[in-house]
Amino acid sequence: MAEHVEVLLTEAEVDARIQEIGEQISRDYQGRQVHLICVLKGGSFFLCELAKRISVPVSLDFMSVSSYGSDTKSSGVVKIVKDLDESIKGKDVLVVEDIVDSGRTLSYLLEMLQDRGPASLRLCTLLDKPERRVVDVKVDYTGFQISDEFVVGYGLDYDQRYRNLPYIGIVKFDS
Ligand code: IMP
Ligand code: MG
Repeated sequence: MAEHVEVLLTEAEVDARIQEIGEQISRDYQGRQVHLICVLKGGSFFLCELAKRISVPVSLDFMSVSSYGSDTKSSGVVKIVKDLDESIKGKDVLVVEDIVDSGRTLSYLLEMLQDRGPASLRLCTLLDKPERRVVDVKVDYTGFQISDEFVVGYGLDYDQRYRNLPYIGIVKFDS
């Protein structure tokens, strides 16, 4: 099926919001080092832009997860495809995600990371679709709350495409 993408949030709007979040994180973590954990692949574009705007010391690690079940409906059972390289014990961890949808993936992931004994554990997401929430997840930093639309760009994909769009767009299917 053919589709096209309509702009929801422009590059300038996304950049400006990431700047604000970066400043807020820098204030909140004053005097500490923040350990950013990027959830691949979607979180990678946001992580890079966010990290550049944080003024306290930053370290990074990456993990890749996949949910069992169909692509469009996550089951909440998460398989770790690539685990973190370093221990998070005693670190101030901030998980950086592209989007919180049902909340299943993140609630599973946060519980697993909490068991590894970080000093603190927070969640930062570029996008949040609160209407779609099935499992309660505490989000500490949100870029934008959006309505229930399928979005792409800035790391988010439709069938592995469109991650490289410098803006957030809505996928519209042509009939
Ligand atoms: P959750 O477990 O339902 O919160 O799943 C979140 C994951 O589903 C995200 O990390 C994305 O990979 C994917 N996802 C959810 N909504 C969208 C969307 O609108 N566009 C692209 N990917 C999405
Ligand atoms: Mg994701």
